[in-house]
Amino acid sequence: MPRKKRPVYAIGLMSGTSADGVDGVVLEIADRGKLTIHSTVNRAYPKPIKDKIRRLIGRKISDAQQSENLDIELARHYAEAVCGLLETIDRKKVSVIGCHGQTIHHSPHSDPPFSLQIGDGAELARLANIAVVTDFRSADLAVGGQGAPLAPAFHQAAFASKAEHRSVVNIGGIANITFLPAVDKSAAASDAECNVSRKGILKIMGFDTGPGNTLMDYWCRAHFDCDYDHNGELAESGTIQLDLLDMLLKDAYFAMPPPKSTGLEYFNARWLDEKLRLWEGREQATNTDILATLTALTAKTIADQVNALTPAAATAYVCGGGAKNRVLTALLKQQTTLIIETTAALGIDPQWVEAAAFAWMAYRTLNRLTSTLPSVTGASKPTIAGVISHP
Ligand SMILES: Nc1ncnc2c1ncn2[C@@H]1O[C@H](COP(=O)(O)OP(=O)(O)O)[C@@H](O)[C@H]1O
Ligand SMILES: [Mg+2]
Repeated sequence: MPRKKRPVYAIGLMSGTSADGVDGVVLEIADRGKLTIHSTVNRAYPKPIKDKIRRLIGRKISDAQQSENLDIELARHYAEAVCGLLETIDRKKVSVIGCHGQTIHHSPHSDPPFSLQIGDGAELARLANIAVVTDFRSADLAVGGQGAPLAPAFHQAAFASKAEHRSVVNIGGIANITFLPAVDKSAAASDAECNVSRKGILKIMGFDTGPGNTLMDYWCRAHFDCDYDHNGELAESGTIQLDLLDMLLKDAYFAMPPPKSTGLEYFNARWLDEKLRLWEGREQATNTDILATLTALTAKTIADQVNALTPAAATAYVCGGGAKNRVLTALLKQQTTLIIETTAALGIDPQWVEAAAFAWMAYRTLNRLTSTLPSVTGASKPTIAGVISHP
């Protein structure tokens, strides 16, 4: 009998558009590809880091000094998260760290297109004494892709079923959906083939549906003196303003066909304030009503795409911080024809899916394997994602 190979371990660090902090995991990758979370850590950003990130996101990328400082400051913050993880596993067993970094600007439609994540890989590699992969999006942008979303390839590896079609919905600052056709009925027979779409054969799809938590979070910071609507408790007592919801839903992004991706340079305070200025009901509505309406906007824009992509009787698995918002998930359940679960039902807690994705991608990059999907990003070919910094 051939001896079973030892599993390998990779660390993944995700700091998404919510700019709330960093989620980290040690991912165990078994010989046969089975993926298991070994251990986890969360390190919230201290307020000065949050403030700096928001200031940088809000302006043109001209303030070199400030972005350089934050680049290093973030690497040190990420290194502390890695330290926490290394209490659970021998450093020598960890082959690589995948560090997404903090998105400062995502601009897939500019000329040239670019997407900027900061958090210095060399500094993190030096501090952790482990090789680090960063800058996961540039290679896909270079071959004509959106550079986003990147998680769908991992969703396929971790969550696809042989027998049933599934969707995965990640509700971070921005929300994205992945449609995973049943493996036996899809073109996803092997890595090399995973984007081949033969006639009548379903392919993996994925795109950003629009705002996840970002508008709700902004509204909470502006009017309720909190970072987010804990469990949806504030929205619960508000009344959804249907005419406002209709008006928000008319935004051109929602009707755009994929491939598409978006970010905080589009769905932000300015976007919302401008719409509210044009809305006649503003005077009568309470701040809680508006929060309820923003929650409904996220739910409706996700539900519409879940219904469009996934055949009835399939299951949609939700992950990301938004999975904890009970009002949001209740609205999703009402508006979809599918069963809504969280990814915990498939063995990965919703909080750690994205971090695990970057651990998996980094491991593939280190082994010169591709991990971006042209059927999702619109690129001309799959790419080996990221840049490796050695300690
Ligand atoms: N208990 C909770 N109730 C409601 N919303 C939550 C809860 N926990 C987290 N969130 C939301 O999830 C967001 C963070 O989600 P996350 O998946 O980390 O997003 P990102 O990848 O953009 O950082 C928070 O900003 C908040 O809006
Ligand atoms: Mg986060």
